[in-house]
Amino acid sequence: MRTLVTGSAGYIGSHATNALLKSGFDVVSYDNLSTGFRSSIPEHVQFIEGDVRDTAKLTKALRDNKIEAVIHFAAKLKVPESLTLPLDYYDNNISGTISLIQACRSAGVDKVIFSSTAAVYGTSNGDKGLVHEGSIISPINPYGSSKLMAEKILADAEPAHGIRSVALRYFNVAGAALDGKNGQRTADASHLIKVASEAAVGKRHFVQVFGTDYATKDGSAVRDYIHVEDLIDAHLLALGYLRDGGSSQVLNCGYGKGYTVLEVLETMKRISGASFSISHQNRRTGDAPHLVADATKLRNLLGWTPQRDDLELICRTSYEWEKRQSTAPA
Ligand SMILES: NC(=O)c1ccc[n+]([C@@H]2O[C@H](COP(=O)([O-])OP(=O)(O)OC[C@H]3O[C@@H](n4cnc5c(N)ncnc54)[C@H](O)[C@@H]3O)[C@@H](O)[C@H]2O)c1
Repeated sequence: MRTLVTGSAGYIGSHATNALLKSGFDVVSYDNLSTGFRSSIPEHVQFIEGDVRDTAKLTKALRDNKIEAVIHFAAKLKVPESLTLPLDYYDNNISGTISLIQACRSAGVDKVIFSSTAAVYGTSNGDKGLVHEGSIISPINPYGSSKLMAEKILADAEPAHGIRSVALRYFNVAGAALDGKNGQRTADASHLIKVASEAAVGKRHFVQVFGTDYATKDGSAVRDYIHVEDLIDAHLLALGYLRDGGSSQVLNCGYGKGYTVLEVLETMKRISGASFSISHQNRRTGDAPHLVADATKLRNLLGWTPQRDDLELICRTSYEWEKRQSTAPA
């Protein structure tokens, strides 16, 4: 299937691009390089430097390449930044999705996979248990709100324009490719496992833990960490589902297991042998105490069976990748 990947030069998009190529898809990469890297995409892949809000350019890319499906990763995604720059988030993430749907309509593309997020749930589902797709939806930051609005736009696009979509609500994506060839390169990342890997290789002196008084076993927040390649497997299954005529869906992507921030840091210290310091900070606005996925729907509907559900493996692949980045020639 000829597939255009927006945000393909980013962390998750580049892993998806590699997996699509391996599975025999024709891939066109579309990215404005605001946070992504051209070098994360194999040289031979057609790369179009463009913004998803440039509807004319995107439409031309879809038409010229006879694209059949789009995977839409392109977005801004830093929660704290979204609190200070909400308009940028609404513009990029909502206007970007509107532009994409307009381009799909013009070019006759009727299949879209969308990167949504657990941030749409907010904090209203209590501090225990699993959240499922029918749990309370109540984002508490502009990032989560922007993604929720994009989900709604996609949901409305099926009855109105015949564009079917699968919105995948990612929990905490982490880790690097098992073959060691790709990993997370995000500058100034705030993702815990990336930050801990940077500390383990000496790029940071300490790791900050925001909130140590939550009602969890050690007081730090609980999250569900999913290996990036298991997440990408869900995208490939979702593409097959839409190709076979499936209707629009919203699906959680996580393992259904929660780890506290302090447990993750202990795991990183153990596998790396590093002893970075931990700085305890107050709770951060916009953070939920506990977010763990019920991904039953993803497993049942798409037959998703994760292969890398192992916190040590996630930390180790991330750490090994970071180590290679520190020693790679400039
Ligand atoms: N990383 C996570 O843990 C996580 C969790 C939940 C959801 N997500 C979602 O996954 C997607 C990918 O995240 P990531 O971690 O790979 O981030 P990333 O920053 O590495 O990748 C985003 C990519 O999109 C590009 N981009 C941004 N705005 C664009 C625009 N207007 N036009 C064209 N390209 C644009 C960037 O240059 C970058 O290459 C995002 O939609 C994000 O909201 C990520």
